[in-house]
Amino acid sequence: MNFWNGIDRLRGMTGPRITDLLGDAERNASLRAQAGPFLFDLSKTSLTQEALELLLELAADVPSRRNAMFAGQRINTTEDRAVLHTALRGTEPVTVDGEDVMPGVRETLDRMRAFAEDVRDGTFRGKGGAITDVVNIGIGGSDLGPAMATLALAPWHDGPRCHFVSNVDGADWAETAKGLDPATTLVIVASKTFTTIETLTNARTARHWMAQAVPDPGTQFAALSSAEDKTTDFGIDPTRVFGFEDWVGGRYSVWGPIGLSLMIAVGPDAFDAFLRGAREMDDHFRTAPLARNLPVLLALQGIWHHQVCGYPTRAILPYDNRLARLPAYLQQLEMESNGKAVTLAGDPLPGPAGPVVWGEPGTNGQHAFYQLIHQGKTPVPCEFMVAARGQEPELDHHHRLLIANCLAQSEALLKGRSHAEARAIIADRFSGEELERQAAHRVFPGDRPSTTLIYPALTPEVLGGILALYEHRVFVEGVMLGINSFDQWGVELGKELATSLGPLVEGEDASAKDASTQALLGQLLDWRA
Ligand code: F6P
Repeated sequence: MNFWNGIDRLRGMTGPRITDLLGDAERNASLRAQAGPFLFDLSKTSLTQEALELLLELAADVPSRRNAMFAGQRINTTEDRAVLHTALRGTEPVTVDGEDVMPGVRETLDRMRAFAEDVRDGTFRGKGGAITDVVNIGIGGSDLGPAMATLALAPWHDGPRCHFVSNVDGADWAETAKGLDPATTLVIVASKTFTTIETLTNARTARHWMAQAVPDPGTQFAALSSAEDKTTDFGIDPTRVFGFEDWVGGRYSVWGPIGLSLMIAVGPDAFDAFLRGAREMDDHFRTAPLARNLPVLLALQGIWHHQVCGYPTRAILPYDNRLARLPAYLQQLEMESNGKAVTLAGDPLPGPAGPVVWGEPGTNGQHAFYQLIHQGKTPVPCEFMVAARGQEPELDHHHRLLIANCLAQSEALLKGRSHAEARAIIADRFSGEELERQAAHRVFPGDRPSTTLIYPALTPEVLGGILALYEHRVFVEGVMLGINSFDQWGVELGKELATSLGPLVEGEDASAKDASTQALLGQLLDWRA
């Protein structure tokens, strides 16, 4: 069946209240699935078994497309590339253009391990002694993955301090460099293309800063890139350049060289465990029946809420303070992958592709934006996640509260509070019309969807599994929508225009620009004068 015809049919299946559906034990069981250390519950959604079955029918192409991806076929058709981030954490041979890529993957990983160990044990030294600080300079996928994962795995962090500089705003570099000694700092320039203006600007500033203390600053630089010619031109010795192929997309790259700062922070063993967790999720995605497959179920509820119910956004709500950067990471993963408007064939999509993705860790978000989630007019499907145990056993009472809050929020979204209930709560304080008016403000519509992912504890394996789960969810949604999830042409125009605006900010004639841009630039230049 055509996907969009299926979506039309599914629209006719919305309507039942979630609380009513939860009375059906068989349905609930079909909306709760396990894989490795994860239990994923999507029973607090308005999905019926009938809707789930139709969604599964619409996912019929997923197995063949999935197999094509894992097999190294060139499924990124606008860039004519294979999509093989899974090979970075894989063990089985994968052939691209007749050649097994795995020996190269293993060799690079071995080189990363050796370098990470040298930095960690002081064999690799700066001008002033053992490395105390590592600065990863990169942006987008060359920053978000290692920055997010280094924070997430802080309890495993026993290497040098790690810092992440991404923004071309000089404030980012300046604030980071403040406490650093160039003589004991290693700078890692992370850029797949080694052409990204923000990263190269920050890298040049870092080299200049390093030169104050290190006569040959390139000796305290490493690079993570697929453009070895450019890293050499920059002055970084090839022994400290860790390359990867064009079949690794930026937002999918934390598993290989782009993860070097993470590996230096937590050590090669914990990094291996991170890869292993992702590999286990890959195996599950490849082998579990679609109806029991976590990435597929996560994708199906995404399609249900965005394309069928028409909810424009989804919130990622990890009840884990160390996952503070996960919403930003998933924002790039999902929005750069599926923020598209044409099919693989280049035809306009008849409906929306990826939703807006946003979020914050709980419980902080509860005291900020949950007001809208509970009482705003537009429902926001919420994706909760929480561990059974925290990493601070001595503070377990905090963790118990964290769990209680996470479960309370999905329960509140589900149950809501009727006008009669609201009235009963305040009947001793108000009466008559004022009671009705006050009660109206305390009504929660309820019947708001959420899913919950739970796991025993946030370990390197579990983190790897969560990221792979979301990667494959993006893939499944992309396949169902018939789009290319692996290009990102939407970022190009802004980059080109920024280049053309550069000279105008220096004062060159701006008369070719639109009236708004001219006025803004004119005022900014006046204030700069
Ligand atoms: O913003 C576009 C983008 O290409 C992302 O996809 C990528 O993660 C980021 O820029 C950084 O690119 P690079 O690693 O080539 O510097």
